[in-house]
Amino acid sequence: MKDVYILAVETSCDETSIAIIKNGKDVVGLEVYTQMDTHAMYGGVVPEIASRMHTEAITLVLDSLLKKTGFDLNKIDAVAVTYAPGLLGSLLVGIEFAKTIAYVYNKPLIKVNHMVGHIYANNIENNLEFPLLAMVVSGGHTELVEMTGDYEFNLLGATLDDALGEAYDKVAKIIGVPYPGGPNVERLAKDGNVCYDLAKPVNDNTLNFSYSGLKSNVINLVHNYKQRGEDININDLAASFQYVAIDEITRKIEIALEQKEYKMLVLAGGVSANNYLRDEVKKITNKYNVKFTVPKMLYCTDNAAMIGAAAYPLFINKQNIADFSLNAKSHISTIE
Ligand code: KG4
Ligand code: ZN
Repeated sequence: MKDVYILAVETSCDETSIAIIKNGKDVVGLEVYTQMDTHAMYGGVVPEIASRMHTEAITLVLDSLLKKTGFDLNKIDAVAVTYAPGLLGSLLVGIEFAKTIAYVYNKPLIKVNHMVGHIYANNIENNLEFPLLAMVVSGGHTELVEMTGDYEFNLLGATLDDALGEAYDKVAKIIGVPYPGGPNVERLAKDGNVCYDLAKPVNDNTLNFSYSGLKSNVINLVHNYKQRGEDININDLAASFQYVAIDEITRKIEIALEQKEYKMLVLAGGVSANNYLRDEVKKITNKYNVKFTVPKMLYCTDNAAMIGAAAYPLFINKQNIADFSLNAKSHISTIE
């Protein structure tokens, strides 16, 4: 079969990224321009600034990709773009850009769900083997998803309130740690001991999650210590939070693995960059003798290579082909 080259565009949050992917697996080239330093000055992503910076960066990112790879755009077979979920203004910059390339080169436009992209990031260096269990953890999603084949999803459980990444980011704010919260809380936790008593989330046996109680617990604890004029060891608090937060993930994965046999456990989404989470999930998969994959760091955080990887089966099966009326959506689940 002829090789398939997909140009993929990702602008859902604060990274402007474009990639060229061959046959859904080979990353011919990947550029990621991050706005993190700018948003750090404001303590979090400012949507208006994010979309303006995408507009300024996107043609330069493509230019740089083509210069580095020497790739001729006439060779592309399709253009893939993240259309949801994410910041509307940011998504729209990528969508309009992708439409333009698809129009000029007369190629199909494929719409890709960002969260599915995070799952398919695991197909770049490994091969997805079905049935699999995907634990999707990002700033907006905490979902346990079963996949019985390419684009065959069953949602087994999801957070009832805050997402795991959101909990990390909120705890970072409470303990006065700068943006980006997640990686900084992980760094603090590395030098801390689990010694603060934080109540575990609702101890039920469903596959749903809940993080707002844990967050409130941290807020109350900090408040009480301050009122008493006592110091808090933020390393220990970060470690105590992380222990409870990740224990909930491994506990639910274990329940799912007890219920059905899976070939593989896939970790996906921005929080999968967390080494403690990776290690703890790996222990569970070892116990159940299930293969474990997690993308390398570059493909864990937002990038266009994963969008190209997720677009490949769609291209082959002629699914999700969009026309020029394609619009952005801010909130959708992994399985939509
Ligand atoms: O997937 P992603 O880049 O963007 C969304 O689609 O949300 O995920 C970003 C989230 C943020 O909440 C960030 O704090 C969290 O992932 N995150 C981490 C780590 N790296 C990123 N959380 C904990 N530990 C990390 N090392
Ligand atoms: Zn993401």
